[in-house]
Amino acid sequence: MPEHTFRLNGHQVSVDVEDDVRLLWVLRDVLGVTGPKYGCGINVCKACTSHLNGTAFNPCAVPVKDLGPNDEVTTIEGLPATVGRALHPMQEAWLEADVAQCGYCQPGQIMAAVALVRRVAAEGREITDDDLDTIRNICRCGTYPRIRQAIRAASAQM
Ligand code: FES
Ligand code: FES
Repeated sequence: MPEHTFRLNGHQVSVDVEDDVRLLWVLRDVLGVTGPKYGCGINVCKACTSHLNGTAFNPCAVPVKDLGPNDEVTTIEGLPATVGRALHPMQEAWLEADVAQCGYCQPGQIMAAVALVRRVAAEGREITDDDLDTIRNICRCGTYPRIRQAIRAASAQM
């Protein structure tokens, strides 16, 4: 089988899988990185949201062959290390607001939130309700109000 190499949470990894295996299954089933959740597998629910080179993406929609050795994939497991802390400020805000209910969607929500706050900060402005509306991650438990509260709190700390 072909070998694919990329960076995952700060480390170079190589996997022997077919070209068309999508990254979510490589992460979860081959590499044992289960923070990105499987919800729909078709880029709709956003439960698998992670970062590719700092931007939110959905690994259920990306064949592993699309990654190269310099591509950096960050999952919720690697998020704290991006700021050199035990928890990322977004995770701390999440705990403070007691956001999670069942928890299934939450890694994806946090990764989407971090990417959004970074993007807005790079544009040199404050986060708005319209920005928050761009997060399309589904939460069956309806934690949306607390998610928005936590993102606003974290955006002041990032
Ligand atoms: S599992 Fe990736 S978007 Fe639903
Ligand atoms: S906390 Fe249960 S699906 Fe979001």
